[in-house]
Amino acid sequence: MLSANMVALAYLVAAVLFILALKGLSSPESARRGNLYGILGMTLAVVVTLLMSGVVNYAWIFAAVFVGGAFGVVVARKIPMTDMPQLVAAMHSLVGLAAVLIAVSALYNPAAYGIATVGGGLSIASRIELFLGTFIGAITFTASIVAFAKLQGLMSGSPLVFKGQHAVNLLLGLIMLAAGIAFCFTQDWTPFLIMTGVALVLGVLLIAPIGGADMPVIVSMLNSYSGWAAAGIGFTLNNNMLIIAGALVGSSGAILSYIMCKAMNRSLFNVLLGGFGGEAVAGGGAAAVGERPVHSGSAEDAGFLLSNARSVIIVPGYGLAVARAQHALKEMADALNGAGVDVRFAIHPVAGRMPGHMNVLLAEADVPYDIVLEMDEINPEFSDADVALIIGANDVVNPAAKNDSGSPIYGMPILEVNKAAHVIVVKRSLSPGYAGIDNDLFYMDKTMMLFSDAKKACESILKALS
Ligand code: TAP
Repeated sequence: MLSANMVALAYLVAAVLFILALKGLSSPESARRGNLYGILGMTLAVVVTLLMSGVVNYAWIFAAVFVGGAFGVVVARKIPMTDMPQLVAAMHSLVGLAAVLIAVSALYNPAAYGIATVGGGLSIASRIELFLGTFIGAITFTASIVAFAKLQGLMSGSPLVFKGQHAVNLLLGLIMLAAGIAFCFTQDWTPFLIMTGVALVLGVLLIAPIGGADMPVIVSMLNSYSGWAAAGIGFTLNNNMLIIAGALVGSSGAILSYIMCKAMNRSLFNVLLGGFGGEAVAGGGAAAVGERPVHSGSAEDAGFLLSNARSVIIVPGYGLAVARAQHALKEMADALNGAGVDVRFAIHPVAGRMPGHMNVLLAEADVPYDIVLEMDEINPEFSDADVALIIGANDVVNPAAKNDSGSPIYGMPILEVNKAAHVIVVKRSLSPGYAGIDNDLFYMDKTMMLFSDAKKACESILKALS
């Protein structure tokens, strides 16, 4: 068994490793190192916790670790990269559920957690901690399940709104708060259960009205909520490591949400209250898909345009991930580079289905970091580019975000590909992207549509180039 001082020291080292992990994850170059720090920190934290004096039964712990670990290995091996956001949402729901279950068992048997007062009850501080951990955990649990269902396509991605939604949410919030305060004074099961039940309903009501295009902010917001729920459990269990790790996840998730909000031009305040995007009109207002003429071309046409360009900016999107085309794209970009064409990649903050999705794919294909540029850096460059080559992206290059105030994505900054001399769009059809709206870019005179799977298109263009 470890002494209290040794545990504190080990936890301090683990906390520093977690902070280094977050720092590493802030850039693609250092992300691998950051992951390694995180793994080391978590291993240290788990081993030290298992060696603490309060642990009385290893059999149950190892049985749970075995079942959970086996499940995790199977899921991680089976899940395609494109389904990662759903998986993350599902994981957040488990953190929320864990917070609620721990709070229930701590209330049922405070002595087992070492938080019982002399009379066998709970101190007012412990009750407040239980209240906070439970309601945040309960909201996280059901909100994450709804987010999972929306991302998995089990529920409609369009906003589910009803009249007076905000008033209902406010009323439920007040009931939850009142029941929580009553619990803090009485330590009674009835207000505790009311508070938990209302929080579970609130989780559903807060996420149901979120429109598809706004889901990225919600996923990172739920990440933050799950961190705060974990920190709440840390207080209940008197475990400093859990408090620190939970607070790190909570605050980094909140910062990420802020960055995502900025990228999508949404206000964090509206996200926190839920229901933003509810006023959006699905459809985009343009003529129905397929009714307008487009210029389409072949891979040879694309190869001709690209090989005659001085400067090409490639915009990857979700379709690149679906087609697993990153390696073929890299080969094609290398061939262009070899022919003296200046090739750069433009990354929109919400391209794909998770933060950093495109960066991960390009890093996997060994695309050098210095030619991968973020939206703010690359947008002024489009007007000097000869060709903007869009591979499987749609919403992030949709001019409706700038021109159509009725569009669900109105106000979201986009990659300004329409400023390039020529635009080539690689996708399989004229189908809309995640936001479910048509894209005027496809019908512009300077746009050539190359209808193909992204990987096949890159391979064919490469063939045409050589
Ligand atoms: P989308 O707007 O979703 O468009 C992707 C396009 O890829 C589709 O129009 C599809 O057209 C095409 N595609 C699919 N499979 C393909 C394949 N095998 N080969 C070629 N093309 C293929 O993607 P985006 O521009 O990256 O924008 C991301 C959207 O997702 C935004 O609305 C964003 O808000 C949302 N979102 C983002 C996140 C994060 S955190 N990044 C999370 C959730 C949601 P075809 O079917 O015609 O091929």
